[in-house]
Amino acid sequence: MLHVPLEQRLRAAVAAVLPDAPSTPVQVRPATDAKFGDYQCNSLMGLAKERKLNPRALATQVVAQLDVADLCLPVEIAGPGYLNFRLKPDAWAAILAATARGEHLFFRPAAQPKTLVIDFSSPNVAKPMHVGHIRSTGIGDCLQRTFRLLGHRVISDNHLGDWGTQFGKLLVGWKQRLDPGALAADPIAEMERLYREINAACEADPSLLDLAREELVRLQAGDPENLGVWKEMIRLSQVQFDSIYGRLGVQFDQTLGESFYNPQLNGVVHDLLARGLARESEGAVAVFSDGTLPPKEDPFLVNKDGEWVADPALIRKSDGGFNYMTTDLATVDYRIQTWSPDEIIYVVDDRQSPHFRKLFQTFARWQPDAAARTQLRHIGFGKILGEDGRPFRTRDGGTVKLGDLLDEAVERALHVVTEKRPELDEASRREIARVVGLGAVKYQDLLPNRQSDYVFSWDKMLALSGNTAPYVQYQFTRAQKVTREGGAYDPARLLQTTPTEPAELALIRHLLNFGLTLEAVAEECRPNYLCNYLYDLAGLYSRFYEHCPVLKAEEPVRTLRLALCDLTAQVLQKGLNTLGIETTEVM
Ligand code: ARG
Repeated sequence: MLHVPLEQRLRAAVAAVLPDAPSTPVQVRPATDAKFGDYQCNSLMGLAKERKLNPRALATQVVAQLDVADLCLPVEIAGPGYLNFRLKPDAWAAILAATARGEHLFFRPAAQPKTLVIDFSSPNVAKPMHVGHIRSTGIGDCLQRTFRLLGHRVISDNHLGDWGTQFGKLLVGWKQRLDPGALAADPIAEMERLYREINAACEADPSLLDLAREELVRLQAGDPENLGVWKEMIRLSQVQFDSIYGRLGVQFDQTLGESFYNPQLNGVVHDLLARGLARESEGAVAVFSDGTLPPKEDPFLVNKDGEWVADPALIRKSDGGFNYMTTDLATVDYRIQTWSPDEIIYVVDDRQSPHFRKLFQTFARWQPDAAARTQLRHIGFGKILGEDGRPFRTRDGGTVKLGDLLDEAVERALHVVTEKRPELDEASRREIARVVGLGAVKYQDLLPNRQSDYVFSWDKMLALSGNTAPYVQYQFTRAQKVTREGGAYDPARLLQTTPTEPAELALIRHLLNFGLTLEAVAEECRPNYLCNYLYDLAGLYSRFYEHCPVLKAEEPVRTLRLALCDLTAQVLQKGLNTLGIETTEVM
């Protein structure tokens, strides 16, 4: 928070010394170690190097131009040219007072709001959502919440897999083997069964495969009966999706599935052919390498036994059907036409990274101007593993359904709550278990670096100590309780005191980094930064609370400490909510 005015003034000072704009940004960041002060700037050395100046001399000149005396003690030049800032004690008090008055919560809306499309979750119709969907859904939701909190315009879009060859087999199954009772009881399981059975039957009986192709062609040609069945399959799937999203508290602005782009696909292929960007190959249409990139970076080449061979992007199959790629090309085009976004973010499994590299390259060759205005970003993530280090599965080796997983999380949380708080009535225990159980699953998923695989562990995620949702949620209830008991306080009183206890100062310093953390999450699309920030905040609060009596302290210290409880509770709650996690008053 305070790094903002410091940074602005430092930039002004740098501009006074070096009138032509610096090419590396001048940044002020929280000090990595409190012995260097509260904030530091490491940018001047790079700047000096670039211009072949003596870094310490540059630092001295900049500091001479720098006016921060109202906020800081004299700025210190350290080592080859680091700047260390130590805030004056009353600067802390002033910022806490502004926060207590509700002027901000240690972050400010972006100076230049961006428009972002975030494509996430995007499950396939007629299949159950499985444990893997927690990743795209949770990371994507956290990103949309973070960008919105920072004042950006977000269009979240659930790119449902609601079109494709699987519907040929599904239609055959639906017409030949549908069990209406089973469909009524569990539509997704029934559709899954139909697909599995027909798929297996096709292996044994090629004529069935032909039938599936015919059904698909009729669907694509707009046959009313097939369209009706297809729509019903989507409707039934949407009921399932809505129930999961409802439980997870996830909302989308748009749900434009793959089928939405159907009318565009033909045009996309024709345009790419006409511009010479795609060509026919073995009856199909494909985009090949244009040779502009070194082979290692070229998404249209793969290395086979030491040789680079073509790995084209298919946009039309030899039977005339279109590909995943074709739909994605049409989708980029539509999104840019419709929303003129600065960025389109795809939160999709890392295994699809070759697809996205081809997509982004192909689009840039197809529409260079639009591609120059819009940044396309694949935000990938790794796998969820079981305790045995292999992909996470049910005990009998099946895929773990997301609905079952959420049930189990809440059920296990209920055990823990019942053990710790047997005196609470059942409805309260269930509500706490819901908040804690769902929070634990989400937090565990957001905590690791998103590109790492992680091991799914019920015991770890539900533990009340360690870097877990229940721990952070619990520290929130403690801070909230003191705040409640302390009652209203007068923010003006904060100006009559200066924090001096190390535990107070450490907590305040960390609170002030909330905005910087949110910006880093947005910049790099990394929710783990926020998890770790909240975990540290919870720990610092806990230490503060052990060392500093709050309600029994004399005024104005009481007000200062009460405000710290209040602001900590607010930041913990806002932070958890930004992760998509709820809080509860009692735990
Ligand atoms: N439905 C796809 C799948 O389950 C994910 C879609 C991701 N979004 C996209 N625009 N390709 O693999």
